[in-house]
Amino acid sequence: MENNAKTELPEKIPTHIAIIMDGNGRWALSRGLPRLAGHRAGTENLRRVIEACIEFGIRYLTIYAFSTENWGRPEEEVQGLMQILEDVINRELQELHDQGVQLHHIGRLDRLSPALREKVLHAIEYTKNNDRLILNVAFNYGGRDEIVCAIQRIIRDGIPAEAVTDELVSGYLFTAGVPDPDLIIRTSGELRGSNFLIWQGAYCEWYFTPTYWPDFDREQLLLALQEFSHRERRYGRISPVEDNIAQHAR
Ligand code: FPP
Repeated sequence: MENNAKTELPEKIPTHIAIIMDGNGRWALSRGLPRLAGHRAGTENLRRVIEACIEFGIRYLTIYAFSTENWGRPEEEVQGLMQILEDVINRELQELHDQGVQLHHIGRLDRLSPALREKVLHAIEYTKNNDRLILNVAFNYGGRDEIVCAIQRIIRDGIPAEAVTDELVSGYLFTAGVPDPDLIIRTSGELRGSNFLIWQGAYCEWYFTPTYWPDFDREQLLLALQEFSHRERRYGRISPVEDNIAQHAR
């Protein structure tokens, strides 16, 4: 693999990266192209970023491909995104499998056409024994919808109120069994969470870049990883250095 990167891979890398792949529309607009051309360019880029994640040893990648709110976009764009998902499975499944990628879906499959639903389920089954990179595709996904779904299932399962814990709720989410993301990246300069992994992202680090998603390349990912490696994650506590000073002052 060609390696033109100027930025080095840091020692401390996240186990789980999640990405809000934003800016496809503006990328297309700035080139006088239709929005769907931006989504297609974004899909090409996704392939490159998956390869980079494998190269860097990242274990989990979650991508926001279609939100529960995206149904409100023009019909042509909604259908175009459905088509892209189908094309990705048709064209890329074997290569993803050969690279050791295990595909997962998070969100609801029920509004997808039966044919597309079948394709997604087939891709999940086909790749289920791979473990190099776990790729969670958030498609018809919303963080609030996920929590509502979890609450409904907890109640249906007759779980008593006292038994409802952090861990139990996590186990009822679409991401059950997947560690929380360490780093969420949002491209295109927007500074919002947009209903993405709102439970799982409670203590994640956020990285925002003005780069539109189709241009977010390997080097840009390395910059995000570099920045992550310098962040101190305190999970609501104080830093170990400060803690040490405080203890000695007692
Ligand atoms: C946000 O950009 C992007 C999306 C809503 C779709 C993301 C989809 C892909 C990158 C294709 C990969 C898809 C699959 C199914 C694997 P935007 O359209 O909101 O951009 P804008 O804010 O510039 O208009």
